[in-house]
Amino acid sequence: MCGIVGYVGGRPALDVVVDGLARLEYRGYDSAGVAVLADGKLATAKRAGKLVNLRNALAEEPPPAGTLGMGHTRWATHGPPNDRNAHPHVDCTGSVAVIHNGIIENFAELRAELEEGGHGLGSDTDTEAVAHLLEDELKGGGDLADAMRRVCGRLEGAFTLVATHTGSPGLVVGARRNSPLVVGVGDGENFLASDVAAFIEHTRDAIELGQDQVVELRAEGVTVTDFDGRPAEVKEYHVDWDVSAAEKGGYDYFMLKEIAEQPRAVADTLLGRIGADGRLHLDEMRIPDQELREVDKIIIVACGTSYHAGLIAKYAIEHWAGLPCEVELASEFRYRDPILSPTTLVIAISQSGETMDALMAVRHAREQKAKLLGICNVNGSTLPRECDGVLYTHAGPEIAVASTKAFLTQLVAVYLIALYIAQVRGTKWGDEVFAMVQLLERMPEKVEKVLETMEPVRELARSLAGERCVLFLGRHVGFPVALEGALKLKELAYMHAEGFAAGELKHGPIALIEEDLPVVVVVPPRARDVLHDKIVSNIQEIRARGARTIVIAEEGDESVEPYADTLISVPAVPTLLQPLVTTVPLQVFACELATAKGHDVDQPRNLAKSVTVE
Ligand code: G6P
Repeated sequence: MCGIVGYVGGRPALDVVVDGLARLEYRGYDSAGVAVLADGKLATAKRAGKLVNLRNALAEEPPPAGTLGMGHTRWATHGPPNDRNAHPHVDCTGSVAVIHNGIIENFAELRAELEEGGHGLGSDTDTEAVAHLLEDELKGGGDLADAMRRVCGRLEGAFTLVATHTGSPGLVVGARRNSPLVVGVGDGENFLASDVAAFIEHTRDAIELGQDQVVELRAEGVTVTDFDGRPAEVKEYHVDWDVSAAEKGGYDYFMLKEIAEQPRAVADTLLGRIGADGRLHLDEMRIPDQELREVDKIIIVACGTSYHAGLIAKYAIEHWAGLPCEVELASEFRYRDPILSPTTLVIAISQSGETMDALMAVRHAREQKAKLLGICNVNGSTLPRECDGVLYTHAGPEIAVASTKAFLTQLVAVYLIALYIAQVRGTKWGDEVFAMVQLLERMPEKVEKVLETMEPVRELARSLAGERCVLFLGRHVGFPVALEGALKLKELAYMHAEGFAAGELKHGPIALIEEDLPVVVVVPPRARDVLHDKIVSNIQEIRARGARTIVIAEEGDESVEPYADTLISVPAVPTLLQPLVTTVPLQVFACELATAKGHDVDQPRNLAKSVTVE
């Protein structure tokens, strides 16, 4: 997830673009760059790190003033975050500049083809291939928009692209597939951006672009076509919020925005994982298949919400890959004597890649010669550097302290790893792995469906703002979901909240049940009848003792209706994937309840986003 700005008009483009980037920095902040077209020449500047580094570089060495420009703030996917990989990327002649958000899945083939054709590629990015493809299309003259349409036809994956060319003065071209791009319509000036926040201080009139469309932006106007050059219908709208809400994309809190971004984040994390041969490929796994076949035990280490993703991973790994799997809090792991060997695979899960407890656990495992695999959301952070292999989640920057979209993408990552190991070890046939990945690919639409039905959950949360305690129960993968639901409520609402395995109820927690105590119960799909029926009995037990039952169950599950004071229905999905849909209502519940109590959900008291001390 990166931030993109394009501008053409009468003002100094550099100012407009850099100010726009500042409002998009929430989308990515590992490097930033700009390109300005002035006197028929392209000038670019780019720097690793936050936008301030680029601002300082521009102040030291200002580019020539021009009224057409574009800028990018990056969240690395292909290639580490450094000056070289920062956008814009230019072609061999320095006459085309491109910025990009998304993942071009077939970039390795395109890159090989370009290199064979004599192009010199100077970065590790997928984006640079587009600059060189445009160069080829523009050889001997030609129109930048036509060239862009032809290039888009060759790209697979999700992308927003913005390009400019010295041979097309006064023109910025954008293209969009499954990645955001909006047009800002001004008076004698026009804007392109990943979201309206970038231009809201200049105009509130915007145009929504559809999928697979190319936009030509000139100071005098905007033309939109599809990838075949046919004029496209566009939707104009007026933005009803102002600059103060800009970085949050119109949401009151980053957390709300990040919850809403989950379908996209899940989809992005799944992008490009199935190769042309129909098999699962995990690009940065870097642990040879032969070594993976020798693995006889997996240990997962993580903290906080990432630990809950690890607990869910255990069920998937044992079921699909047939390997014993332990899950350990990273802070506990190295203070006991874990039994590790060169055939142990240690998987460390960390959104930030900087949590000290997780890093120390990884170092301890390295000393014992175990193989190390990281699951991480921040490209260029410490964890991936210290592991043998890594699987990046593509959630984009998570700003709110309480993790939401990173958690869902961590689940996708652990499912992919479990399936990959199953494929390598042959515990699942290729078609079975493929079928499961196809089910995963349907999850963004299911999560979207959950998000569309959250108003009753918000109402319920507001009605419980005066409570002092909420309990959460689950079985199987619903148990870690219960722990996560309780953690969210603790973090955000500062309430006593506990998650329990529903089977443990009778061994103690049932003593806590008293009249009207809210108890949230996560019910497994009906297809897992043994589990399902047991939890229905658990609901009856607590209700008989006066609990107020809040039941999360798959749609159409009538068996729980008689015992649910509140029923929250989620789409029917396979049991192992159910946490992707059952966690979302719990995030919304905690966020709304905390907001009703007047708390800042983005920065809860005493907590930090990334805990870099032990
Ligand atoms: C902190 C945050 C949690 C997060 C945990 C692990 O405690 O407040 O939201 O789950 O760290 O962070 P990591 O970056 O390692 O996933």
